[in-house]
Amino acid sequence: PSIALIGAPSDAGANLPGTSLGPDALRIAGIAPALRARGLHAIDQGNLSGPGVDHHAGHAPQQGFRHLAEVAQWNAAVCGAVAEALAAGHLPLLLGGDHSLAVGSISAVARHCRQRGQRLKVLWLDAHADANTPATSPSGNLHGMPVACLLGHGPQGLTHLAEHSPALVPAQLALLGVRSVDAAEKRFVNALGIEVYDMRYIDEVGMRATMAQALYGVDRHTHLHVSFDLDCLDPTVAPGVGTPVRGGPTYREIQLCMEILADCGALGSVDVVELNPTRDVRNQSAELAVDLLESLFGKSTLMRAR
Ligand code: ARG
Ligand code: MN
Ligand code: MN
Ligand code: MN
Repeated sequence: PSIALIGAPSDAGANLPGTSLGPDALRIAGIAPALRARGLHAIDQGNLSGPGVDHHAGHAPQQGFRHLAEVAQWNAAVCGAVAEALAAGHLPLLLGGDHSLAVGSISAVARHCRQRGQRLKVLWLDAHADANTPATSPSGNLHGMPVACLLGHGPQGLTHLAEHSPALVPAQLALLGVRSVDAAEKRFVNALGIEVYDMRYIDEVGMRATMAQALYGVDRHTHLHVSFDLDCLDPTVAPGVGTPVRGGPTYREIQLCMEILADCGALGSVDVVELNPTRDVRNQSAELAVDLLESLFGKSTLMRAR
C-alpha cells in the first residue's frame, strides 16, 4: 500500500507554541526515506495550511476553549485530506501538530469504515486520556479534548466533521499508556466504559499481555487506527513534547508495542502528534518517532524470518 504523509503544522490546540514545527522535524529525521527503505511507497503530500494562533497573547478560554475556531478549521482540512487519501486507497499518516487534529483524522477514518461496513478499532497511545469536555477542562486546551469530541461530547465544529456524530462509540476505542488524568476526566472515562490500559496495568501484566488484550477481536479485516501522542513515551527517551509526564513506557516496551501492532496486520491509518521540536534535544524525539514508525510498518529485529 502507498502511505500518504499529510503534514498538519498546527499548535492551535496545544498548551504551548511549537507543535507546528513537528511535520518538518519528522521529515528532517528522515521519515519518508525510512518508510521507503521498508519497501513501502511513501508519498509526502507536504503540509496542509491553516490559521496560526498567538500563544503569547495569553487568551483566556472562551466558553471553555482556547482557539476553537482555528482548531476547527485545521480539523476540517485534516478530515478532508485523510478522507481523500483513504478514498485513493492510501494509508494516511498524519504528521502533527497537536493531538486535537486526531478529531479530523479519525472522523474521516470512521466515515470510511462506516461506508464500507468495516470494523474500526482506535488505539490511543498517550500519557493523557484527552477526554475533557469544555465543562471539565482545567486548561481550555483542545488537545485535551479529542477523545470526548470523537465520542460526541464537544463543540459542533468538532463533533460533526464527517456528518455522522458521534464518530466513535466507546467500544471502538482503547487508551494505552495513560498516567495523567484529571478528576472529572476520570469520571467521564469510567462512565462511558472506555477501555483503558494505564501504566499500572502495563507494569503489572507487561506490554505483551496488554497488547493481546487491547487487540482482542482485531483481525485482518479490521481497520486499526493508531493515534500516537509522543508524550505516551517516557520523557527520558522523548523529551520533545509540550506536556511531558514521567513514568511512561521504556524504549523496549514501546518497540514491542509497535512490533505487535505491525504483526496484527490490520493497520489502516496513523497519527503522530504532539512532537514539539522547541522542547526537544537535537531532534532525538523526532528520530525516535521515525524509528518506532519503522517498527509499526513492519521492521523487525528478529533474526529469523517470520
Ligand atoms: N488533561 C490536560 C488538559 O486537558 C492535558 C492534556 C494533554 N493532552 C495532550 N494531547 N498532550 O489540558
Ligand atoms: Mn489566541
Ligand atoms: Mn498526551
Ligand atoms: Mn494526546
